[in-house]
Amino acid sequence: MSKKLMDLKGHTDGRGLLVALESNKSVPFDIKRIYYLTDLKKSEPRGFHAHKNLKQVAICLQGSCRFILDDGKTREEFILSSATQGLLIEEMYWREMDQFSDGCVILVLASELYDESDYIRDYNEFKKRVL
Ligand code: TYD
Repeated sequence: MSKKLMDLKGHTDGRGLLVALESNKSVPFDIKRIYYLTDLKKSEPRGFHAHKNLKQVAICLQGSCRFILDDGKTREEFILSSATQGLLIEEMYWREMDQFSDGCVILVLASELYDESDYIRDYNEFKKRVL
């Protein structure tokens, strides 16, 4: 299993599942921002950018989706379909997300506040920077 996939401890009992995430413990950075994606369309892939400094953990809380991570040399595919699995996306990974199932909900924990200047949205620029 790739080191990018993280097993998150789930507390399951007769009432359901609870997962707790803590900065610098289960999540390897200070969590400064949380966002989530819902109402995703199968025909509308997302992402298509990299971040210069940001680290993120993505968790598919409901349903399933595909993440593609590209470090400029290798493209890796991850199907996320478990609320007890996180995908660690470190800085300078080009990411694409697609294949959203019905009802897919994605939670993202981020190491920095939102900063448009941290984005690289041009794949050729990304390739130049990682070479
Ligand atoms: P975008 O980066 O295009 O999403 P994705 O990578 O999933 O394709 O973000 C969509 C919009 O949301 C865009 O207008 C920027 C805004 N946004 C924020 O305001 N704060 C945030 O933390 C994020 C991630 C996005």
